[in-house]
Amino acid sequence: MNTISLFDQENFLAGTETRLGSQAVVLRGFAQAYVADLWPALQTIISEAPFRHMVTPGGQRMSVPLTNCGSLGWTSDTRGYRYTSNDPDSGRPWPTLPAPFMRLACDAAAQAGFAGFTPDACLINRYRPGTRLSLHQDKNERDFSFPIVSVSLGVPAVFLWGGQRRGDRAERVPLFHGDVAVWGGADRLRFHGVAPIKESTHPLLGTERINFTFRRAG
Ligand code: SIN
Ligand code: FE2
Repeated sequence: MNTISLFDQENFLAGTETRLGSQAVVLRGFAQAYVADLWPALQTIISEAPFRHMVTPGGQRMSVPLTNCGSLGWTSDTRGYRYTSNDPDSGRPWPTLPAPFMRLACDAAAQAGFAGFTPDACLINRYRPGTRLSLHQDKNERDFSFPIVSVSLGVPAVFLWGGQRRGDRAERVPLFHGDVAVWGGADRLRFHGVAPIKESTHPLLGTERINFTFRRAG
């Protein structure tokens, strides 16, 4: 697939919704109108809290480098997965959740049927060609009544959308620049992941993909 056809697909789908479950949906292109405000705020975040490879509780280096903003940040080390108020690398609080990030998360959640969502954590993952994220559940948050709001920027990915059990068959859902996936309620603990990223080029992000997942963690 070349850059032109990817760009065409992204724009062809914009404004549509792809239903993933009774309480899970992809809002196609929803973030596009926010990107001009998100982008400079993201640069500030990564200058204060750079992307880093964390270590799993089993001692493996994670292939996806990450950072966070918000009053809580998702953290992993040999002691386990958890949320922390401070960046373990700098010892300082994670950068605050910028207003345009908050606006996008609230608006997308409301559009997906979760009005009143106010995230306190945003995990930021960076993918390059070949990077993948294996199937997992987001379950380190305190209250599962709040949804997950996941924003895709840059080159496309194939989102693996599984079931309630690890062994359930996973659907392959393409995600493009500007797409926002929201899952909550009955779908909140669905297994999900990202297939290895293919080589392609995006005008804003080059060969990279960046994903934000907004959560209410505390
Ligand atoms: C995640 O599950 O944390 C990220 C999902 C994605 O990158 O689309
Ligand atoms: Fe996740």
